[in-house]
Amino acid sequence: MRGMGSNYDPNKPVDWSVIKQIWPHLMEYKRRVGLALFCLLAAKLASISMPFVLKFVVDDLDTQQADSSLSLIAVPVGLLLAYGFIRLSNVLLGEIRDTLFGRVTERAMRRVGLKVFEHLHALDLAFHLERRTGGLSRDIERGTNGISFLMRFLIFNIVPTFLELFLVMAILWQQYSIDFALIVLLSVVSYVWFSKTATDWRSQFIREANVADSRSSTRAIDSLINFETVKYFTNEKHEAELYDQELSKWEQAKRKNRLTLFALNTGQALIISVSMTAMLTLAASNVAKGEMTLGDFVLINAFMMQIFMPLNFLGFVYREIKSSMINIERMFELMKVDSKVSDTSQAPGLNVQQGKIEFKDVAFSYDPERPILKGLNFVLQPGEKLALVGGSGAGKSTIAKLLFRFYDVNDGQILIDDQDIKQVSQLSLRQAIGVVPQDTVLFNNSILENVRYGCPEARDDEVKQAIELAHLKDFIEQLPKGYDTQVGERGLKLSGGEKQRVAIARTILKRPAILVFDEATSSLDSVSERAVLQAIDEVSRNKSSVVIAHRLSTIINADRILVIEDGQVVEQGNHESLLQKTGHYARLWHLQQSNQENK
Ligand SMILES: Nc1ncnc2c1ncn2[C@@H]1O[C@H](COP(=O)(O)OP(=O)(O)OP(=O)(O)O)[C@@H](O)[C@H]1O
Ligand SMILES: [Mg+2]
Repeated sequence: MRGMGSNYDPNKPVDWSVIKQIWPHLMEYKRRVGLALFCLLAAKLASISMPFVLKFVVDDLDTQQADSSLSLIAVPVGLLLAYGFIRLSNVLLGEIRDTLFGRVTERAMRRVGLKVFEHLHALDLAFHLERRTGGLSRDIERGTNGISFLMRFLIFNIVPTFLELFLVMAILWQQYSIDFALIVLLSVVSYVWFSKTATDWRSQFIREANVADSRSSTRAIDSLINFETVKYFTNEKHEAELYDQELSKWEQAKRKNRLTLFALNTGQALIISVSMTAMLTLAASNVAKGEMTLGDFVLINAFMMQIFMPLNFLGFVYREIKSSMINIERMFELMKVDSKVSDTSQAPGLNVQQGKIEFKDVAFSYDPERPILKGLNFVLQPGEKLALVGGSGAGKSTIAKLLFRFYDVNDGQILIDDQDIKQVSQLSLRQAIGVVPQDTVLFNNSILENVRYGCPEARDDEVKQAIELAHLKDFIEQLPKGYDTQVGERGLKLSGGEKQRVAIARTILKRPAILVFDEATSSLDSVSERAVLQAIDEVSRNKSSVVIAHRLSTIINADRILVIEDGQVVEQGNHESLLQKTGHYARLWHLQQSNQENK
């Protein structure tokens, strides 16, 4: 499944195998889980003994009253105190259980959250270009919450509630008659059957509501990310309408959700009321016949309340467990997405000795119907500076992305020092290459930290040295907050040229063996550009480097220039030799020169 939510089938049955995935997390804290289970059992015993104490209290009062020679009725203090104590310990044991188990669920949430995060980073660029951030983060959030819920309720509600039911039935049968036990059995069976059927029917509406929820959140985030664009075109109203469309779908889904919940709750209440009435009628007639005491009546009433409360809760828990499962499933589906770019098993690290880069008959397309590169061939000798020029959309940035292995080639090979980049680990490949991308996006952090990102272990003075090399020092020092200046979300508080220089400083700090500059100076004025070009020359001295540029004046000194057109190399050579050829390059050069003169 690629592109979350696109082909999501709301009628698919729930995948119960998610429980298997959760099991190891329970085993991580065996002792805690064991203790929590012990508390649970003790609390259940306490709750089962409560009706008995109540019965003794009532019977005690009743016999005293019957024996009317006594004018003063003694209060059974001991029994009442015992009742209070049992009630308190019941509640306390429940609290201790939850406190103990909290740690287990939180650890599981942490582990799963991290796993999903790491998985997302391991996916290829194509996935991330298709994904919708808002929806994705909602899916993960709901999924991890679902895990915590599932763990808690499966262990602490479903299993113990059934245990209690059996105990109560056994007690009723043994103490009174099988009729009582049968009524309980019948009502429990019909209750469970009804709840399950109704809940299964409802799960499609829960899914619909979730999909609608993710969509509206995606819409809102996408729109807010594009805040500036929305303003440029005064499309606030349009955006609000689109968002409202999604919200209204969500509202409708929620409405169905609510109405079906109403039906479910009503049905459950009906079953409970009918069986409660039947039980009490039977008990009352037994009391009237003198076969049971008043205390027995109270005991049966107390037991029924005690069973139906968790049973009622069970309905809620089953519903919630189902919706948690659906949420978890959606998150795990994300985990099943495979990266299109992956390491071969035990891929060795890339060994860069000289930095020779070779593209051999490389063919590539983003979309099978539209080839971008059609049999590209070139060799970059160790230490050479190679320039790529060509029209917009010719595929220059694509070449850089392929070298970095954001995508795999469809055909042909890319070799670095005679090692196919497909055969080496992605990590080692990417460590060896430094890229200054065409559009730099920064983290919402300080300038200093953004530059340090190139090498997180770097000391402050090393970071500052890189900043100086990238000709960013003067700019930063005149800022009121200097190096601590926050750059805003995605770096939007910096100018285009400043961002480019941050990107260059980062790459300088990374010290890679191979450098790629994709329009790295396109946003700079001529003075800064000259300075930065000089810096680029310094850092790439004796290193293989690829420079992509539109302005040919910036690449005159390249060792070799490739002119890319229509997915192929149409000309290559150095500046002088290409000018003499009077081909594409010469034409472009003269065009740009005359533009310069006209300015
Ligand atoms: N992720 C993508 N999915 C589909 N098509 C893409 C993708 N990225 C780029 N393209 C297309 O591939 C072609 C080559 O893009 P590329 O970015 O390599 O061009 P470029 O030579 O760097 O152009 P420019 O000089 O404008 O930066 C373009 O037509 C572009 O529309
Ligand atoms: Mg480009």
